[in-house]
Amino acid sequence: MPAPDRFLPSPAFRSPAFYERAEWYDRACPWDPSAEIEFLRRVTADHGLVRPRRVLEPFCGTGRLLGAWPEPYGFDLCMPMLRRARGAVFRADAARFVLKSEVFHFAFCLNDSFRHLLTEARARAHLRAVARALEPGAVYALGFDVTPAEFADISCQVTMFQANGQAWRCRVGSLGDADPATRTETIHVRIDPVAADERAKNGDTAETGPGAASHADHAVVDDLFPMRTYTSRDVEDLIDAEGSFELAAVYHGYDPSETSIEISEVERSAILILRKEQR
Ligand SMILES: C[S@@+](CC[C@H](N)C(=O)[O-])C[C@H]1O[C@@H](n2cnc3c(N)ncnc32)[C@H](O)[C@@H]1O
Repeated sequence: MPAPDRFLPSPAFRSPAFYERAEWYDRACPWDPSAEIEFLRRVTADHGLVRPRRVLEPFCGTGRLLGAWPEPYGFDLCMPMLRRARGAVFRADAARFVLKSEVFHFAFCLNDSFRHLLTEARARAHLRAVARALEPGAVYALGFDVTPAEFADISCQVTMFQANGQAWRCRVGSLGDADPATRTETIHVRIDPVAADERAKNGDTAETGPGAASHADHAVVDDLFPMRTYTSRDVEDLIDAEGSFELAAVYHGYDPSETSIEISEVERSAILILRKEQR
């Protein structure tokens, strides 16, 4: 096993309740991961990586995307998330991990995880450590949300799902407090039951099961945590200043019809294809 050489614990990390309650994280991500997996496969082929074998996923969480690779390795800081993951996973801080050099053929991190690194120093340390673990010429697919330059956007992602015989709603959104000076914003995650009258209003007449009453009046996750903000200019500056990678392509979604765009064209979601220099 190529990893880890050392585990360097992060003194300041407070794991959001959303992740500590890992079963609710999985329920709130009920979508089929095949679009993400197909996208990653296409990226590796387009960038000359023929069937990458040993693959690394920093911030792997519950390992939703790990099973797609022959030799997957993932790490995360939150133990309840890792306990649900299968495969070679270990606990590490994404800004302070040390793996053997140049052993991975491909790395990826989707789902806006990178913005958990709140300072420029930690973001750079992450890119440096991933680059060190990758073979020369390998790529890192890094997907996260880019904030419009005017900091005006307040969007909220809503996912509905069923659990314990009850309909639930997961809302993830910014409080709209993105601050260009501190480069942070507050993210609010709330998972709460959808009340019967609201479901009826929306035409949902499905029966609720025995778990419904006990869950009916409270949120199971109601959490605020900070994330770092990036404008497209901040993304370019970070990659240039850190220096391990060149920006080989940028996509804003997983659809196969998508072609690479300029980083300046990104409106919200960006998947950066970062290539480590060939020797
Ligand atoms: C939005 S989840 C994404 C999980 C997974 N990548 C996925 O696509 O479902 C973000 C993950 O980042 C982890 N995380 C946050 N800060 C971290 C850090 N400094 N080092 C390692 N993992 C961290 C959290 O514990 C959580 O599992």
